[in-house]
Amino acid sequence: MVKQIKCMIVSGARPNFMKIAPLIKAIERHNKRDKSSVVLDPIIVHTGQHYDEEMSRLFFRDLSIPKPDYDLNIGSGSHGEQTGRIMIAFEPVVKKEKPDLVVVVGDVNSTLACALVASKLNIPVAHIEAGLRSFDRTMPEEINRILTDQISDYLFTHSRDANENLIKEGIPEEKIFFVGNIMIDSLKMILKHTDRSTVNKWIGKILANRNLQTDRYAILTLHRPSNVDNKSSLRRLLECLHEISKEIPIFFPVHPRTKKQIEAFGCEQYLNWIDNGRSIVNLNGDGNLFGLPPLGYLDFMSLTKNSSLVFTDSGGLQEETTILGIPCITLRENTERPVTVMEGTNTLTGNDPSRIFNAFCKVKQSPRGPRKVPELWDGQTAERIVNILIGRDQG
Ligand code: UD1
Repeated sequence: MVKQIKCMIVSGARPNFMKIAPLIKAIERHNKRDKSSVVLDPIIVHTGQHYDEEMSRLFFRDLSIPKPDYDLNIGSGSHGEQTGRIMIAFEPVVKKEKPDLVVVVGDVNSTLACALVASKLNIPVAHIEAGLRSFDRTMPEEINRILTDQISDYLFTHSRDANENLIKEGIPEEKIFFVGNIMIDSLKMILKHTDRSTVNKWIGKILANRNLQTDRYAILTLHRPSNVDNKSSLRRLLECLHEISKEIPIFFPVHPRTKKQIEAFGCEQYLNWIDNGRSIVNLNGDGNLFGLPPLGYLDFMSLTKNSSLVFTDSGGLQEETTILGIPCITLRENTERPVTVMEGTNTLTGNDPSRIFNAFCKVKQSPRGPRKVPELWDGQTAERIVNILIGRDQG
C-alpha cells in the first residue's frame, strides 16, 4: 500500500522563496519517478509577509513555484503584531488540512509563527536552515532561529558549525541532519537561465551614458534594522558608499523599508534613482550610487553574477557570493554564516566607514582570492531532504 505524507510547506518573505522552490521540485520528481511506497503530498502556504510584486510574485514566477494553496495575506506590522497575525491565520489552515508535517525555512517571522502553531497542535515540524547563530539576540531573526529550532523535529542544517550549535543547545543528535544549502539548489538552477534577463543590457546602457566601463560595477543591498532604522548609521553608510561609488559604480536595489527610511531621514542626496522605466529619474549626486526598485530573482542573480564586488547586510547574499567567487563586504558586525568567512569570499566590516574603505582597498588589490565551495553546497540538498522525509536515508 502506498503511504501518503501530507507535507505543508510554508513561505512568507523574499528569502524563503528560493528555499521552498527546490523542495517542491524534488517532491514532484520523487512522486513521478518513484512509484515507491511513500508519496509526499505538498500543500503550499504563503503567509504574505512580503506582498509587493517585486518582493513576492516575481520570485514565484522566476522560480516556477506553483500558486500557493493558501495565501494568508498577512502583510506588514510590528514583530509581535505580524507574528501573532500569522499564527491566528495559520492555525485554522492546519486544523483543516491536518498535515503530517509542517516544513518551515529560514528565520523570518513567518518561520517561527508557523512552527509554533504546528508544534502546539502536535504536528512534527521540519526546519530547513536550522542551527545558524549570529549570537546577537538584538537581531529579530536570531530569536526566530533559536525558538524554531527548539520546537522542530527535523533540523536540516547547511554547515557543520550549525550542527555544533544545535548540539550545544541540547537538541538530540538524531533530530539533526546535515544536508547542505538548499538555496544553492536554486542558485544553480537560475544560473542556467541568466541569458533570459535583460538587466545587464540596461545597466550597461546607463554606465555607457555616464562614460563608465560597462563591465565593472558593485552591488549593494541594505535592509537590517541595525543599519537602516537609525538616522546616523544610515547616513554614515550611504555617505561612505557614495564616496566609494566614485571609484566603482554601485547598483542598489532598494528594499521598501530602506526606501522609506532614506526618505524619512532625508538621505536622498547620496543616490541617483533609476525608475521602473530603467532610466535615471533623479540625478542627485556626483557619485555613481544608483538606487533602483527591488529586482526579481533572475534579474538580481544575473546582475550579481557579473558584478565585481558586493556590499550587503543580507544573509543569503553572503552565501551566493561565496559560490560565485565574488568578494562580499558584509556591513554587519557578525554573521550566522561563518563558513562564508572561513571558506568563502566574505569579509565582515560592520557599518564603520574606515573598515569598509579598508576592505574595499583590499578587494581592489586582489579582486578574487582563493575560495572553497563549502561541503554539500552542491545543488542536491532538496533531494537529500526528500530522502530523509520518506525515511529512505537517515542523513
Ligand atoms: C524580513 C525578515 C528578514 C529578511 C528580510 C528580507 C523578519 C523578522 N525579517 O525583513 O530576516 O532578511 O525580510 O527582505 O521576518 N514592505 C513592503 N512591501 C513588502 C514587504 C515589506 O513595503 O512586500 C515594507 C513594509 O513597510 C514593512 C517593512 O517593509 O513594514 C518590513 O517588512 P518585514 O517583512 O516586516 O521585514 P523585512 O525588513 O522585510
